[in-house]
Amino acid sequence: MIQAPLPGFSLGSHRIDPPLVLAPMAGITDLPFRRICRRYGIGLTVTEMIASRAVEQGRERTERMAELDDDESPVSIQIAGSDSKFVVEAAHWAVSRGADFVDINMGCPVKKICKQVAGSAMLKDEVLVARVIRAVVEAVDIPVTLKIRTGWDEPSKNVERIAKIAEDNGIQMLTVHGRTRSQMFNGHANWEDIGRAKAAVSIPVIGNGDVVDGESALEMLRVSGCDGVMVGRAVQGNPWVLQEVHAAIMGLPKPAAPTAEERWTVVEEHMQHLAEHHGVRFASKMARKHVGWYSKGLRDSAEFRGHFQRLDDWEQQLDVARDYFLALDDALPLAA
Ligand SMILES: Cc1cc2nc3c(=O)[nH]c(=O)nc-3n(C[C@H](O)[C@H](O)[C@H](O)COP(=O)(O)O)c2cc1C
Repeated sequence: MIQAPLPGFSLGSHRIDPPLVLAPMAGITDLPFRRICRRYGIGLTVTEMIASRAVEQGRERTERMAELDDDESPVSIQIAGSDSKFVVEAAHWAVSRGADFVDINMGCPVKKICKQVAGSAMLKDEVLVARVIRAVVEAVDIPVTLKIRTGWDEPSKNVERIAKIAEDNGIQMLTVHGRTRSQMFNGHANWEDIGRAKAAVSIPVIGNGDVVDGESALEMLRVSGCDGVMVGRAVQGNPWVLQEVHAAIMGLPKPAAPTAEERWTVVEEHMQHLAEHHGVRFASKMARKHVGWYSKGLRDSAEFRGHFQRLDDWEQQLDVARDYFLALDDALPLAA
Protein backbone atom coordinates (compact mmCIF):
# COMPACT_ATOMS: atom_id res chain seq x y z
CA MET A 1 0.00 0.00 0.00
CA ILE A 2 1.15 3.53 -0.60
CA GLN A 3 1.03 6.03 2.20
CA ALA A 4 -1.92 8.31 1.40
CA PRO A 5 -2.02 11.23 1.03
CA LEU A 6 0.76 10.99 -1.53
CA PRO A 7 2.96 14.02 -0.85
CA GLY A 8 3.50 16.60 -3.55
CA PHE A 9 6.91 17.95 -4.50
CA SER A 10 8.55 21.20 -5.58
CA LEU A 11 9.53 21.94 -9.14
CA GLY A 12 11.38 25.24 -9.33
CA SER A 13 9.21 27.77 -7.54
CA HIS A 14 6.05 25.67 -7.98
CA ARG A 15 4.48 22.80 -6.08
CA ILE A 16 3.15 19.75 -7.87
CA ASP A 17 0.53 18.96 -5.31
CA PRO A 18 -1.36 16.72 -5.66
CA PRO A 19 1.15 14.83 -7.81
CA LEU A 20 -1.51 13.97 -10.38
CA VAL A 21 -0.74 14.99 -13.96
CA LEU A 22 -3.02 15.15 -16.97
CA ALA A 23 -1.21 13.41 -19.85
CA PRO A 24 -0.46 15.44 -22.96
CA MET A 25 -2.51 14.01 -25.82
CA ALA A 26 -2.31 15.53 -29.29
CA GLY A 27 -5.73 16.46 -30.60
CA ILE A 28 -7.33 15.91 -27.20
CA THR A 29 -5.78 17.90 -24.33
CA ASP A 30 -6.21 21.29 -25.94
CA LEU A 31 -7.11 24.30 -23.81
CA PRO A 32 -10.86 23.49 -23.74
CA PHE A 33 -10.36 19.97 -22.43
CA ARG A 34 -7.62 20.94 -19.98
CA ARG A 35 -10.00 23.58 -18.61
CA ILE A 36 -12.57 20.86 -17.91
CA CYS A 37 -10.02 18.44 -16.43
CA ARG A 38 -8.52 21.04 -14.11
CA ARG A 39 -11.65 20.93 -11.95
CA TYR A 40 -11.03 17.39 -10.93
CA GLY A 41 -7.98 17.57 -8.74
CA ILE A 42 -4.94 17.62 -10.99
CA GLY A 43 -1.68 19.22 -9.93
CA LEU A 44 -0.13 19.81 -13.35
CA THR A 45 -1.32 20.17 -16.93
CA VAL A 46 0.76 19.74 -20.07
CA THR A 47 -0.05 21.03 -23.55
CA GLU A 48 -0.19 18.79 -26.58
CA MET A 49 3.22 18.11 -28.12
CA ILE A 50 4.44 21.00 -30.27
CA ALA A 51 7.09 20.17 -32.87
CA SER A 52 10.00 22.61 -32.74
CA ARG A 53 9.91 22.94 -36.55
CA ALA A 54 6.26 24.01 -36.33
CA VAL A 55 7.26 26.75 -33.89
CA GLU A 56 9.82 27.96 -36.37
CA GLN A 57 7.15 28.13 -39.08
CA GLY A 58 5.02 30.31 -36.78
CA ARG A 59 1.63 28.91 -37.77
CA GLU A 60 -1.51 30.19 -36.11
CA ARG A 61 -2.46 26.64 -35.16
CA THR A 62 0.81 26.25 -33.24
CA GLU A 63 0.08 29.42 -31.28
CA ARG A 64 -3.35 28.09 -30.43
CA MET A 65 -1.82 24.87 -29.13
CA ALA A 66 0.28 26.85 -26.67
CA GLU A 67 -2.57 29.03 -25.44
CA LEU A 68 -2.91 28.77 -21.66
CA ASP A 69 -5.58 30.01 -19.30
CA ASP A 70 -4.47 32.92 -17.09
CA ASP A 71 -4.98 30.82 -13.99
CA GLU A 72 -3.55 27.63 -15.50
CA SER A 73 -0.51 27.06 -13.34
CA PRO A 74 1.57 25.05 -12.92
CA VAL A 75 1.56 24.16 -16.60
CA SER A 76 4.13 22.73 -19.01
CA ILE A 77 4.41 23.40 -22.69
CA GLN A 78 5.64 20.25 -24.37
CA ILE A 79 8.06 20.51 -27.27
CA ALA A 80 9.71 17.93 -29.50
CA GLY A 81 12.63 17.82 -31.87
CA SER A 82 16.17 16.55 -32.19
CA ASP A 83 17.98 19.56 -33.64
CA SER A 84 19.19 21.48 -30.60
CA LYS A 85 18.97 24.80 -32.41
CA PHE A 86 15.25 24.44 -33.13
CA VAL A 87 14.46 22.81 -29.80
CA VAL A 88 16.13 25.68 -27.96
CA GLU A 89 14.16 28.20 -30.02
CA ALA A 90 10.97 26.31 -29.21
CA ALA A 91 11.90 26.33 -25.53
CA HIS A 92 12.38 30.12 -25.54
CA TRP A 93 9.06 30.45 -27.33
CA ALA A 94 7.39 28.24 -24.68
CA VAL A 95 8.75 30.49 -21.93
CA SER A 96 7.44 33.56 -23.77
CA ARG A 97 4.00 31.93 -23.95
CA GLY A 98 3.83 31.63 -20.17
CA ALA A 99 4.95 28.05 -19.50
CA ASP A 100 6.03 27.29 -15.95
CA PHE A 101 8.06 24.34 -17.28
CA VAL A 102 9.30 23.12 -20.63
CA ASP A 103 8.65 19.43 -21.16
CA ILE A 104 10.68 17.64 -23.82
CA ASN A 105 8.95 14.76 -25.59
CA MET A 106 11.09 11.69 -26.19
CA GLY A 107 8.19 9.26 -26.15
CA CYS A 108 6.12 9.94 -29.23
CA PRO A 109 5.90 6.72 -31.29
CA VAL A 110 4.37 8.30 -34.42
CA LYS A 111 6.25 7.34 -37.60
CA LYS A 112 6.42 10.87 -39.01
CA ILE A 113 8.09 12.12 -35.82
CA CYS A 114 10.39 9.10 -35.42
CA LYS A 115 11.56 9.42 -39.02
CA GLN A 116 12.98 12.81 -38.11
CA VAL A 117 14.71 11.05 -35.20
CA ALA A 118 12.53 12.88 -32.72
CA GLY A 119 10.09 11.62 -30.08
CA SER A 120 10.86 8.06 -29.01
CA ALA A 121 13.39 7.49 -31.82
CA MET A 122 15.80 9.65 -29.83
CA LEU A 123 16.00 6.98 -27.15
CA LYS A 124 18.21 4.96 -29.52
CA ASP A 125 20.85 7.68 -29.43
CA GLU A 126 21.87 8.46 -25.86
CA VAL A 127 24.45 11.05 -26.94
CA LEU A 128 21.74 12.93 -28.80
CA VAL A 129 19.44 12.71 -25.76
CA ALA A 130 22.10 14.29 -23.57
CA ARG A 131 22.90 16.98 -26.17
CA VAL A 132 19.31 18.13 -26.62
CA ILE A 133 18.54 18.11 -22.90
CA ARG A 134 21.66 20.05 -22.03
CA ALA A 135 21.01 22.64 -24.73
CA VAL A 136 17.49 23.32 -23.45
CA VAL A 137 18.47 23.31 -19.77
CA GLU A 138 21.23 25.83 -20.47
CA ALA A 139 18.92 28.01 -22.57
CA VAL A 140 15.99 28.62 -20.24
CA ASP A 141 15.60 29.72 -16.62
CA ILE A 142 12.56 27.58 -15.85
CA PRO A 143 12.64 23.87 -14.96
CA VAL A 144 12.97 21.49 -17.87
CA THR A 145 11.22 18.13 -17.62
CA LEU A 146 11.30 15.05 -19.84
CA LYS A 147 8.75 12.46 -20.95
CA ILE A 148 10.00 9.13 -22.25
CA ARG A 149 9.04 5.57 -23.04
CA THR A 150 11.12 2.74 -21.61
CA GLY A 151 13.18 2.37 -24.77
CA TRP A 152 12.92 1.73 -28.49
CA ASP A 153 12.16 -1.97 -28.26
CA GLU A 154 12.45 -4.80 -25.75
CA PRO A 155 16.09 -5.78 -26.53
CA SER A 156 17.30 -2.17 -26.46
CA LYS A 157 15.34 -1.01 -23.42
CA ASN A 158 17.43 1.67 -21.70
CA VAL A 159 15.05 3.42 -19.33
CA GLU A 160 17.50 3.49 -16.41
CA ARG A 161 20.33 4.92 -18.48
CA ILE A 162 18.08 7.55 -20.06
CA ALA A 163 16.77 8.50 -16.61
CA LYS A 164 20.33 8.92 -15.36
CA ILE A 165 21.35 10.93 -18.44
CA ALA A 166 18.31 13.14 -17.89
CA GLU A 167 19.18 13.81 -14.27
CA ASP A 168 22.88 14.36 -14.98
CA ASN A 169 22.03 16.93 -17.63
CA GLY A 170 19.64 18.98 -15.52
CA ILE A 171 16.18 17.51 -16.03
CA GLN A 172 14.13 18.27 -12.90
CA MET A 173 11.24 15.82 -13.34
CA LEU A 174 10.89 12.71 -15.44
CA THR A 175 7.71 11.05 -16.70
CA VAL A 176 7.94 7.45 -17.85
CA HIS A 177 5.30 5.77 -19.98
CA GLY A 178 5.97 2.09 -19.24
CA ARG A 179 5.99 0.89 -22.85
CA THR A 180 8.69 0.68 -25.47
CA ARG A 181 8.20 2.42 -28.80
CA SER A 182 7.72 -0.87 -30.59
CA GLN A 183 4.76 -1.64 -28.33
CA MET A 184 3.01 1.50 -29.55
CA PHE A 185 -0.14 1.28 -27.37
CA ASN A 186 -0.34 -2.52 -27.36
CA GLY A 187 0.22 -4.93 -24.50
CA HIS A 188 0.56 -3.56 -21.01
CA ALA A 189 2.59 -0.74 -19.53
CA ASN A 190 5.39 -2.27 -17.49
CA TRP A 191 5.24 -0.54 -14.12
CA GLU A 192 8.36 -2.39 -12.89
CA ASP A 193 10.32 -0.68 -15.65
CA ILE A 194 9.03 2.68 -14.43
CA GLY A 195 10.30 1.64 -11.00
CA ARG A 196 13.75 0.97 -12.47
CA ALA A 197 13.92 4.57 -13.68
CA LYS A 198 12.70 5.82 -10.31
CA ALA A 199 15.35 3.82 -8.47
CA ALA A 200 18.11 5.15 -10.72
CA VAL A 201 17.57 8.87 -10.00
CA SER A 202 16.73 11.27 -7.22
CA ILE A 203 14.55 13.69 -9.23
CA PRO A 204 10.76 13.18 -9.03
CA VAL A 205 9.47 10.50 -11.39
CA ILE A 206 5.89 10.37 -12.64
CA GLY A 207 4.55 6.97 -13.67
CA ASN A 208 2.31 6.65 -16.70
CA GLY A 209 0.51 3.99 -18.67
CA ASP A 210 -2.73 2.07 -18.15
CA VAL A 211 -3.91 3.93 -15.07
CA VAL A 212 -7.68 3.81 -15.48
CA ASP A 213 -9.09 4.36 -11.98
CA GLY A 214 -8.15 4.89 -8.35
CA GLU A 215 -7.19 1.28 -7.80
CA SER A 216 -4.83 1.05 -10.78
CA ALA A 217 -3.24 4.37 -9.77
CA LEU A 218 -2.44 3.00 -6.32
CA GLU A 219 -1.14 -0.25 -7.80
CA MET A 220 1.10 1.58 -10.28
CA LEU A 221 2.48 3.71 -7.44
CA ARG A 222 3.04 0.64 -5.28
CA VAL A 223 4.84 -1.31 -8.01
CA SER A 224 6.95 1.57 -9.30
CA GLY A 225 7.54 3.58 -6.13
CA CYS A 226 6.95 6.71 -8.22
CA ASP A 227 6.33 10.21 -6.93
CA GLY A 228 3.21 10.85 -8.97
CA VAL A 229 0.78 9.57 -11.52
CA MET A 230 -0.14 10.70 -15.04
CA VAL A 231 -3.47 9.72 -16.57
CA GLY A 232 -4.13 9.78 -20.32
CA ARG A 233 -6.65 7.80 -22.32
CA ALA A 234 -8.90 7.05 -19.37
CA VAL A 235 -9.93 10.73 -19.23
CA GLN A 236 -11.32 10.69 -22.77
CA GLY A 237 -15.02 11.26 -22.24
CA ASN A 238 -14.50 10.70 -18.53
CA PRO A 239 -12.70 13.59 -16.83
CA TRP A 240 -14.35 12.37 -13.59
CA VAL A 241 -11.80 9.57 -13.46
CA LEU A 242 -9.37 12.26 -12.30
CA GLN A 243 -11.36 12.95 -9.15
CA GLU A 244 -11.38 9.23 -8.48
CA VAL A 245 -7.59 9.00 -8.86
CA HIS A 246 -7.21 12.16 -6.81
CA ALA A 247 -9.32 10.70 -4.00
CA ALA A 248 -7.34 7.45 -4.08
CA ILE A 249 -3.95 9.12 -3.78
CA MET A 250 -5.21 11.48 -1.08
CA GLY A 251 -6.72 8.60 0.92
CA LEU A 252 -10.25 9.99 0.50
CA PRO A 253 -13.43 8.02 -0.20
CA LYS A 254 -14.27 7.30 -3.82
CA PRO A 255 -16.44 10.12 -5.18
CA ALA A 256 -19.90 9.40 -6.57
CA ALA A 257 -20.28 9.13 -10.35
CA PRO A 258 -21.69 12.31 -11.93
CA THR A 259 -25.43 12.64 -12.25
CA ALA A 260 -26.92 12.90 -15.73
CA GLU A 261 -27.30 16.64 -15.24
CA GLU A 262 -23.70 17.11 -14.10
CA ARG A 263 -22.53 15.10 -17.08
CA TRP A 264 -24.48 17.27 -19.50
CA THR A 265 -23.22 20.47 -17.83
CA VAL A 266 -19.65 19.34 -18.50
CA VAL A 267 -20.38 18.20 -22.07
CA GLU A 268 -22.09 21.50 -22.85
CA GLU A 269 -19.29 23.59 -21.35
CA HIS A 270 -16.71 21.52 -23.18
CA MET A 271 -18.55 22.11 -26.46
CA GLN A 272 -18.77 25.84 -25.79
CA HIS A 273 -15.06 26.06 -25.00
CA LEU A 274 -14.29 24.11 -28.19
CA ALA A 275 -16.30 26.58 -30.25
CA GLU A 276 -14.64 29.60 -28.63
CA HIS A 277 -11.16 28.19 -29.00
CA HIS A 278 -11.28 26.57 -32.44
CA GLY A 279 -14.29 28.22 -34.13
CA VAL A 280 -17.45 26.21 -34.81
CA ARG A 281 -16.22 24.47 -37.95
CA PHE A 282 -13.31 22.73 -36.29
CA ALA A 283 -15.16 22.48 -32.96
CA SER A 284 -17.85 20.51 -34.73
CA LYS A 285 -15.28 17.88 -35.78
CA MET A 286 -13.73 17.79 -32.32
CA ALA A 287 -17.17 17.45 -30.72
CA ARG A 288 -17.86 14.28 -32.72
CA LYS A 289 -14.85 12.69 -31.07
CA HIS A 290 -15.34 14.00 -27.53
CA VAL A 291 -19.13 13.75 -27.32
CA GLY A 292 -18.89 10.22 -28.70
CA TRP A 293 -16.51 9.36 -25.85
CA TYR A 294 -18.73 11.02 -23.24
CA SER A 295 -21.56 8.73 -24.32
CA LYS A 296 -19.51 5.52 -24.18
CA GLY A 297 -21.10 2.84 -22.05
CA LEU A 298 -24.29 4.83 -21.52
CA ARG A 299 -27.77 3.81 -22.59
CA ASP A 300 -28.38 3.62 -26.36
CA SER A 301 -24.98 5.22 -26.92
CA ALA A 302 -24.24 3.44 -30.22
CA GLU A 303 -27.48 4.73 -31.65
CA PHE A 304 -26.80 8.23 -30.32
CA ARG A 305 -23.28 8.25 -31.76
CA GLY A 306 -24.52 7.02 -35.12
CA HIS A 307 -26.87 9.98 -35.25
CA PHE A 308 -24.53 12.57 -33.73
CA GLN A 309 -21.56 11.72 -35.98
CA ARG A 310 -23.60 12.55 -39.06
CA LEU A 311 -24.49 16.06 -37.88
CA ASP A 312 -22.38 18.99 -38.95
CA ASP A 313 -24.57 21.87 -37.86
CA TRP A 314 -23.28 23.14 -34.53
CA GLU A 315 -26.67 24.14 -33.06
CA GLN A 316 -28.12 20.82 -34.08
CA GLN A 317 -25.21 19.01 -32.47
CA LEU A 318 -25.87 20.89 -29.23
CA ASP A 319 -29.60 20.09 -29.34
CA VAL A 320 -29.13 16.40 -30.08
CA ALA A 321 -26.47 16.02 -27.38
CA ARG A 322 -28.64 17.88 -24.83
CA ASP A 323 -31.64 15.67 -25.57
CA TYR A 324 -29.55 12.55 -25.22
CA PHE A 325 -27.64 13.39 -22.04
CA LEU A 326 -30.58 14.92 -20.18
CA ALA A 327 -32.77 11.91 -20.89
CA LEU A 328 -30.28 9.62 -19.13
CA ASP A 329 -31.16 8.12 -15.87
CA ASP A 330 -28.88 9.08 -12.96
CA ALA A 331 -28.39 5.51 -11.86
CA LEU A 332 -26.45 4.68 -15.02
CA PRO A 333 -22.82 3.87 -14.39
CA LEU A 334 -20.04 5.48 -16.41
CA ALA A 335 -18.28 3.30 -18.94
CA ALA A 336 -15.64 1.01 -17.51
C1 LIG B 1 -4.25 10.27 -29.02
C2 LIG B 1 -3.01 10.37 -28.18
C3 LIG B 1 -2.18 11.46 -28.33
C4 LIG B 1 -1.00 11.56 -27.56
N1 LIG B 1 -0.23 12.66 -27.68
C5 LIG B 1 0.87 12.81 -26.87
C6 LIG B 1 1.63 14.00 -26.90
O1 LIG B 1 1.33 14.96 -27.62
N2 LIG B 1 2.72 14.06 -26.08
C7 LIG B 1 3.08 13.02 -25.25
O2 LIG B 1 4.06 13.12 -24.52
N3 LIG B 1 2.36 11.89 -25.21
C8 LIG B 1 1.25 11.78 -25.97
N4 LIG B 1 0.49 10.65 -25.87
C9 LIG B 1 0.84 9.62 -24.88
C10 LIG B 1 0.14 9.87 -23.53
O3 LIG B 1 0.58 11.06 -22.94
C11 LIG B 1 0.42 8.72 -22.55
O4 LIG B 1 1.80 8.63 -22.37
C12 LIG B 1 -0.10 7.37 -23.07
O5 LIG B 1 -1.40 7.50 -23.60
C13 LIG B 1 -0.10 6.30 -21.95
O6 LIG B 1 -0.90 6.71 -20.87
P1 LIG B 1 -2.41 6.15 -20.67
O7 LIG B 1 -2.34 4.66 -20.63
O8 LIG B 1 -2.85 6.77 -19.36
O9 LIG B 1 -3.21 6.64 -21.83
C14 LIG B 1 -0.67 10.54 -26.64
C15 LIG B 1 -1.53 9.44 -26.51
C16 LIG B 1 -2.69 9.35 -27.24
C17 LIG B 1 -3.60 8.16 -27.06
